[in-house]
Amino acid sequence: MQKHALIKIDDKEHTFPVMTGTEGEKAIDARNLRKETGYIFYDQGYGNTGSCESSITYLDGDNGVLRHRGYTIEELAEHSDFPETAYLVIYGELPNAAQRKAFGQLLRENAAIETQMQRIFEGFPKDAPPMAMLSSIVGSLAAHYPQLATNNFEKDLQQFDLAAAMAISKIRTIGAMIYRHNKGLPFVHPKDLPFCNNFLHMMFSEPYQEYAALPEVAKALNLILLMHADHEQNCSTSTMRMVGSSGANLFTSLAAAINALSGPLHGGANTAVMQMLQSIHDENDDGTRFIEAAKGGSKSSRLMGFGHAVYRNFDPRAKIIGQACDVVLKKLGKSDPLLDIAKNLEQAALKDDYFISRKLYPNVDFYSGIIMRALGIPTNMFTVMFAIGRSPGWIANWREVASNPKGRIYRPRQIYVGPVKRAYVPLANRK
Ligand code: ACO
Repeated sequence: MQKHALIKIDDKEHTFPVMTGTEGEKAIDARNLRKETGYIFYDQGYGNTGSCESSITYLDGDNGVLRHRGYTIEELAEHSDFPETAYLVIYGELPNAAQRKAFGQLLRENAAIETQMQRIFEGFPKDAPPMAMLSSIVGSLAAHYPQLATNNFEKDLQQFDLAAAMAISKIRTIGAMIYRHNKGLPFVHPKDLPFCNNFLHMMFSEPYQEYAALPEVAKALNLILLMHADHEQNCSTSTMRMVGSSGANLFTSLAAAINALSGPLHGGANTAVMQMLQSIHDENDDGTRFIEAAKGGSKSSRLMGFGHAVYRNFDPRAKIIGQACDVVLKKLGKSDPLLDIAKNLEQAALKDDYFISRKLYPNVDFYSGIIMRALGIPTNMFTVMFAIGRSPGWIANWREVASNPKGRIYRPRQIYVGPVKRAYVPLANRK
């Protein structure tokens, strides 16, 4: 039987249907709220607002659950790799052998950045921030491939397949080129290699010496990217959907999502974590100063890599990556003092009432930087790595929006709290 929610306001009763998701998530269908009552819901930050129906990712923040298309992140981390998970996230099913081969082929064929596009780099200063370069260059894909810069893919699904594979593959190549640009090194072109090996080749090969990734290194990179493949309606994904809802094309929407990711409270946190750990190391501190400062309540002194807008229990990705840290470092025969600092900091915070009472646990960013550092990826590239990993999730969400025949442009309301109507004051009369 259809359940309803009752709202009584101004002595009038209104009923609204209740919706239930496949995992039992409950919602009140308030699409007619304003029309029927004249009221809107005030929900600053949208923490209680379902902006869409989606079949991509299920997240239960209270119980630390994350599943893509029904598959747990733990199982994907154990058995899958980044390209396969990307396919799953975008298309809804694990690929069969032929689909996996065709997808891999499409990624390889679209890996290179054509000469015309490479010239964009010449316009950037040598030390330009990587995320600023990434968003501009990804946005320029719409200018270089106008035939794919459409949102009308339902008519021609092959075109979407091409645009999606191109975006994932080229974001990865652009990422490697950004690294080389910042270092003043010549670009290294992609080769016929698996996705992550190709990235490492484009980052670290030199004209005089090929870089051959150790299997452990390629595996660790696959894990890092896979961990980021999608994460429900976070800030950058919501941006992707919002921009896509205007009919904006895939590449333009991706540039917007990359910009949203760049903030320190979102994708920029992995960089901030490493800076924090490095400061603790340099100050020869045990982390107490950072923990005490974080408890002061100021946004600027938060313990980076701790807390999450949705997880009120552990972040399952942090568990997987935290465990992988030890394995990867051991396999590479490396040790990192920052890993010991991170572990001590985690233990100290988890015993502290401030963090316990607020349910603040390590998030995915707390340990991911340690692995990336072990792979030779510099700190200023961490958020770019996050963007490469998140590209399938953004694309899948954009596809849901673009292919929804009943979709509407995203347009939240507001509560206006500015001045009420007043008369224009001529310049001579102003104080
Ligand atoms: N350090 C110290 N205090 C914190 C932290 C932190 N890292 N995170 C939250 N708090 C405090 C808040 O100040 C608030 O305190 P109050 O109740 O006394 O006012 C309380 O904990 C509850 O905050 P939340 O509502 O859980 O935080 P919110 O949902 O607004 O923010 C966020 C979530 C942005 C992730 C926050 O925890 C944070 O800034 N963490 C550090 C940055 C970070 O690691 N970001 C990466 C997130 S994961 C990702 O984007 C991939």
